[in-house]
Amino acid sequence: MVSAMVGCEKPAEPAKQGRQNGSGLPGRMATNPDGQGEGAGGGTPAGKTYTIGFSQCNSAEPWRAQMDADVKAAAGAHAQIKLIAKDAQNDRARQMSHVKEFVTAKVDALIISPLDTALTTAVAEAFDAGIPVIVLDRAVLGEKYTVFIGADNRVIGAEVGKWVTKAMGGRGNVVELKGLASSVPAADRSEPFREAIGKTEIKVVYDADMEWIKAKAREKMQAALARNAGKDSIQLVYGANDPAAIAAYEVAKDAGREKEMKFVGVDALPNEGIEAVRKGILDATFEYPNGAKEAIQTALDLFAGKMGERKIVLGTRLYTKENVEKGGEKVGP
Ligand code: FRU
Repeated sequence: MVSAMVGCEKPAEPAKQGRQNGSGLPGRMATNPDGQGEGAGGGTPAGKTYTIGFSQCNSAEPWRAQMDADVKAAAGAHAQIKLIAKDAQNDRARQMSHVKEFVTAKVDALIISPLDTALTTAVAEAFDAGIPVIVLDRAVLGEKYTVFIGADNRVIGAEVGKWVTKAMGGRGNVVELKGLASSVPAADRSEPFREAIGKTEIKVVYDADMEWIKAKAREKMQAALARNAGKDSIQLVYGANDPAAIAAYEVAKDAGREKEMKFVGVDALPNEGIEAVRKGILDATFEYPNGAKEAIQTALDLFAGKMGERKIVLGTRLYTKENVEKGGEKVGP
């Protein structure tokens, strides 16, 4: 294990973020000693290989399956990276053990997309053990990680609120199927949405936690329809992810009520949300990029001793039937 730092671009900043490992670096960083030549990673020593542990909370969801594929493809493009991926199958305790296993194995970096904030301690332990930790999509609490990469869910929530207000002409009844309450994106996608519609005559007549899981969203939508049974009692469903929004459509269709309401989701995978917009199942979806490419690039940078931004914020795009064939449109700042 090399602990000295050579060739780090911003020595002052990382030192502030990670004193715990004794090296003054966020997590553990490899060196790039002068005169040793560089590997294909742009700054990493030639001939050296790096092991990255990738902890995924649930590969069974389409968005995460895509993230897995993208992480593998991005890592596969660099001969010096060895990737070990583990799927926690939506089980917190299992994901905690995976992180511990990666710490014991002394991986050169950990990339984690955590199930929820319960993973905070495990992530902090990895960071304190001197491992550079890149957190993707769902944030942990506190500061004990090296880099966070993800889209701004508060921006997405606000954009959904704007779109919904316009699509409903400022009035009507909404069902909100929310993400897992213990995960940061859930509140971030909901609160700014509520703020936006709070200024209108749009009411949320039913909301529930679908835990990001399509089968749960189906159950919640059945309850929503049962409780709001009159025709036109629901004009729009906001699913915090596309599986939930599509589940809501399917349940409404089974009940013969899908024409009464609009359906809006988040993720915009080409074969899921975007396809659903094309087919007229969803009225809108907002892209939620998975950060896989950026995560591998960040790991390579850290291996080369380069610490860049601590938070990498990805953008979003809106897809509707009007713009889907043109590739959607960028929204937000
Ligand atoms: C998959 C997922 C995505 C969603 C993201 C939020 O687990 O639910 O559909 O956009 O997680 O963290």
